[in-house]
Amino acid sequence: MKKILVTGATGPLGSAVVSSLLDKTAAVNIAVLVRDAAKAGWLQAKGVEVRIGDYSDYGSLVAAFKDIEKVYFVSGNDIARRRPQHDNVVNAAREAGVRHVVYTSFQRKDETAASPIHFVATSHLHTERILKASGLTYTILQLGIYADMIPIFAGEQLLDTKTLYQPSGDGRTAFAVRTDLAEAGANVLLETTGKYDDKAFELTGPEAVSYDDVAAGISAASRAVTITL
Ligand SMILES: NC(=O)c1ccc[n+]([C@@H]2O[C@H](COP(=O)([O-])OP(=O)(O)OC[C@H]3O[C@@H](n4cnc5c(N)ncnc54)[C@H](OP(=O)(O)O)[C@@H]3O)[C@@H](O)[C@H]2O)c1
Repeated sequence: MKKILVTGATGPLGSAVVSSLLDKTAAVNIAVLVRDAAKAGWLQAKGVEVRIGDYSDYGSLVAAFKDIEKVYFVSGNDIARRRPQHDNVVNAAREAGVRHVVYTSFQRKDETAASPIHFVATSHLHTERILKASGLTYTILQLGIYADMIPIFAGEQLLDTKTLYQPSGDGRTAFAVRTDLAEAGANVLLETTGKYDDKAFELTGPEAVSYDDVAAGISAASRAVTITL
């Protein structure tokens, strides 16, 4: 069996994808692409093959993708350089003979320049377009906002300020935790029937909630903690 390679495996999403894969298949079937081998000790210890590469270094990607069947492609986090980096990843996958790329894109309602997150969106939209035109088999996972972001949005002072600052109005979000999104990605990678081939899926939680709901949940949880103490 040719291997599955996970990029971004030193980050929370990619590492959770590898952990989920390790629950479902042998380590010998898994490789990772990392920039810094020193961050990948736990992966090596599990028997996962560690390959070195950088989205900005085309040659490193072609070498790292050799003998790989499927790539789980974690979008880069350098927004200013992401578009050429993603061109490199898609072109290198094709040149190296990768069959299938699973790309982590974003959930949206508005693809126009009027979107307040257009500066983030534009490189995702570009990557979806080039993947679809690449001739590679693709699966696009349009991830909603991680539930893991709520504590970051809330900030460390929340229980003192009792204020959750979020420009959301009455907007609702179906948050999902990153580990669930990762497990869904692992299932796509291990699927053998082809049912996820050349398709895009929105990956979200089961229920859309408002930030009023989030605030109410935090209030209830903090009261419970106070009583417990
Ligand atoms: N939906 C959401 O709510 C949400 C929230 C936050 C982020 N995101 C996006 O989701 C993606 C992954 O999530 P995450 O939480 O795991 O992100 P993260 O913590 O930003 O991790 C990104 C991973 O990509 C790797 N990477 C970055 N630039 C690279 C390059 N030039 N070449 C090779 N590898 C590179 C990083 O490697 P190093 O360890 O070497 O830096 C790291 O392993 C990111 O694109 C991020 O922007 C989504």
